[in-house]
Amino acid sequence: MTNGLPERTSLDISPEAFETIRKILKNLKGFNLDCYKEKCIRRRISIRIRATHSKTAESYCDLLLNSESELELLLKVLTIHVSQFFRNPATFEKLKNDIFPRLFSRCSREGRRELRIWSVGCASGEEPYTLALILKDTFDAETRGIDVSILATDVDTGTLEAARTAAYGVDRLAEMSESMKGRYFDLRESKYHLLPEIKRLVSFRQSDIYDIGGYEASDLILCRNVLIYFERSQQERILEGFADALPRGGILVLGKSETLVGSSRRRFTTVCPVERIYQSL
Ligand SMILES: C[S@@+](CC[C@H](N)C(=O)[O-])C[C@H]1O[C@@H](n2cnc3c(N)ncnc32)[C@H](O)[C@@H]1O
Repeated sequence: MTNGLPERTSLDISPEAFETIRKILKNLKGFNLDCYKEKCIRRRISIRIRATHSKTAESYCDLLLNSESELELLLKVLTIHVSQFFRNPATFEKLKNDIFPRLFSRCSREGRRELRIWSVGCASGEEPYTLALILKDTFDAETRGIDVSILATDVDTGTLEAARTAAYGVDRLAEMSESMKGRYFDLRESKYHLLPEIKRLVSFRQSDIYDIGGYEASDLILCRNVLIYFERSQQERILEGFADALPRGGILVLGKSETLVGSSRRRFTTVCPVERIYQSL
C-alpha cells in the first residue's frame, strides 16, 4: 500500500494522453500537474481509468472533456485528503509545550499584538482546528491581548467545503481525548459537529501551494504531508517561499516523512528533528 491506495502498476498512458490530461486540468480547473511526482500522478490517473472502465487512456480523455463530475473525481484522487485531528500527537504536544509558549513570549518581548498561523494543505480542516483547540484549551489567557489568526488553505474546493462544515466521523477524532470531544463537539446523527466558538477561529481559503507569490506573511507555518507529492525541485522552491514568508525565528512544521531539501536547508535551523520542526534564520 502507498498512502492508503493499493500499489498497482500504472496503465500505459501515452505521452500524448498524459499531455491531454495535463491540459484539461490546467485549462478547465487551473490545476497544475507539472510540479507533482509524475509516477505518483500516473498511478492515480490509472485508478480513475480503471474505475470508469475506460478502455484506453485516450477514451478516458474524452470522458474527462465531457464530464464535470469525472473531472472533480480525478482532482480528488490526485489531491489526497487523508487527515485526522491531532495527527502524529507528539508533534502537537511539542507545539503545545514548547513552540506556542516561545511564540507568545516573543510577542510579549517585542510588544507585538498579532500572531499569524498558516496551515497549508489543510484538507478537511482537522489540522487547523487542532491548533484552534490547543489555543482555546491551553492558551486562552495568552490569546486575549493578541490578535491570533489561523489561515487554512488547500487547492481543493470540495475539501474546503467539508472543512467549513466541520462535521466529522469518529475515525477523524481517534487521537482526541473523550473530554475534549465532549467539550468542543456536538454529536448528532453519528457525526461530531465542531462548536462555532472553535470554527470561527479558522479562516479557509482556496490557494495553490504552487503560487508562491500569494504566500501570506506568517509566524508559524504547518505544511504536513503535502510536499511529499511534489518533485524535489518544487519542494525546494516551496520551502524557499516559506522561508520568505516567515520572519527570523518563525517556525515551520513539516510532515513526519518530509524534510528540508537543497538550498532551503540554509534558510532554517532545526528545532526538533523528530517532529520536523524548523526555525527560520
Ligand atoms: C494528505 S493531505 C494533508 C492534510 C494535513 N496537512 C495533514 O497532514 O493531516 C494533503 C492535502 O494537500 C492538498 N494539496 C495537494 N496539492 C496541493 C496544492 N498544489 N496546493 C495546495 N494544497 C494541495 C490536498 O488537497 C490535501 O488536502
